[in-house]
Amino acid sequence: MIGVLKVIHLLAAVLWIGGVFYAYVVLRPSVSYLSGPDRVTLWDRVFTRFFRWVWVLIAALLISGYGMLFSAFGGFASAGYLHAMQLFGWLTIIVFAVLAFGPYRKLHAAVAAEDWADAGETIPRIRRLVHVILWLGVVSIVVGGGGSYL
Ligand code: HEM
Repeated sequence: MIGVLKVIHLLAAVLWIGGVFYAYVVLRPSVSYLSGPDRVTLWDRVFTRFFRWVWVLIAALLISGYGMLFSAFGGFASAGYLHAMQLFGWLTIIVFAVLAFGPYRKLHAAVAAEDWADAGETIPRIRRLVHVILWLGVVSIVVGGGGSYL
């Protein structure tokens, strides 16, 4: 059972943070030649599809993470690196929620209303939050994967 939970946890982390890496490091500079309506519409479509998956992946991370914690790692009395895992995991999830319910929601509404100026204003804030999520996600993976060896 612990093996199944671990594989689910690892897959969810890889798919989520791998997707963030792809969006920030590969897609963003590749589409920088686009501007105006094309650019914001593309980001709206990319985020709408990706974020649906991210909510599923977050649910999988939490269920498998707390499943492992309470079945095999002593619950809240677990080793220090697992407190760090929870801290960075929750920070990553909270910043994602801020992005999803804040500037992404505004971008989505502005694109639907064809208000291109409003939509464009959300992009720098989204970029900063995605950058923070990428770093927090990488730290979570380093802590979760390497913590027991340190
Ligand atoms: C917030 C709730 C979370 C809890 C309770 C939790 C709990 C755990 C536990 C118990 C382990 C096993 C540690 C070990 O085998 O020594 C683990 C490993 C791991 N966690 Fe988390 N985690 C959480 C969130 C996250 C998040 C958000 C990410 C990444 C975005 C993440 C990525 C990882 C990775 C990559 C591993 C290593 C898996 C492996 O060694 O096979 N975790 N976590």
